[in-house]
Amino acid sequence: MVEDIRHFLDLADLSPEDARTIIDNSAEMKQQRLGRTKGAGDDEASLKGYLLALIFEKPSTRTRVSFDVAMRQLGGETIVLSAADLQLGRGESEADTGQVLSRYVDAIMIRGNSHARVEKLAAAATIPVINGLTDFSHPCQIMADVLTFEEHCGSIVGKTIAWLGDGNNVAVSWVHAAAKFGFEIKLGCPPDLNLRPEVIEWASRENVSFSLHENPDDAVRGADCVVADTWVSMGDEDTDRRKKILQPYQVNQALMDNAKPDAIFMHCLPAYRGDEVTADVIDGPQSVVFDEAENRLHAQKGILAWCLAQGAS
Ligand code: CP
Ligand code: NVA
Repeated sequence: MVEDIRHFLDLADLSPEDARTIIDNSAEMKQQRLGRTKGAGDDEASLKGYLLALIFEKPSTRTRVSFDVAMRQLGGETIVLSAADLQLGRGESEADTGQVLSRYVDAIMIRGNSHARVEKLAAAATIPVINGLTDFSHPCQIMADVLTFEEHCGSIVGKTIAWLGDGNNVAVSWVHAAAKFGFEIKLGCPPDLNLRPEVIEWASRENVSFSLHENPDDAVRGADCVVADTWVSMGDEDTDRRKKILQPYQVNQALMDNAKPDAIFMHCLPAYRGDEVTADVIDGPQSVVFDEAENRLHAQKGILAWCLAQGAS
């Protein structure tokens, strides 16, 4: 991997200072354009002349649209590609794809099935590669989530986040974020769908303030924020088994009542009401899910600005 390229593959790779810079810059850019129509540009067209390729191996609403709009508001342009329409989809190597795209565009955002393949693409690319979700992690989402938490509850430092459900890709990025931003993460996951062992080891090595709870009430107790995600992620096939195992981890009002009285509820969306969260919670007064979805746009700007800060390669 070329050393001075600013890939955004995982929060684990970022310094705490860079993670904080991205959040603060995102918040500032959001403030600066308050009241404008969505199609109006930001004052500083800081990515004018920059071209971002967006590659999707899996469906997306928020990631696709927020990156596209972020680039337009920053004065840049995008090319949106389905992996199935690229030679990548019929066997061209990640390394060759990374090198070729580096000759055409200034950065790549990829939503991939396999984290290892995204890492191979990044290793060969001479431009920044951004992870727009893989089977392992979803770092862009958690930057928007930290931004949202701080808007509603103040600094996230020293606060407590409770994750309920599958120890999936989004959970992994929350654990990474706990290390970088200095908050506590409590995971309420069934033993059969727990956080990956290598991430538990990583969190222990990094002295992350984290704990695993089989009992969902224990996970939520004292939390400033309760987070849920779908029980069946893209690529998961064992739907019936998952729904059965995860039922006790549903976020309903009785579970929310174990958190702090002013706790907020977050969900990256898409959500399945009646499964991982009840409608009264996700559509109720503690929920901030649509602020969170909006903040994908503002956080993408901070991420893009950080990745491209050193100019074109
Ligand atoms: N939260 C999220 O990544 O949404 P999309 O799958 O719609 O991009
Ligand atoms: N864990 C979910 C997140 C969707 C944004 C998935 O991977 O499908």
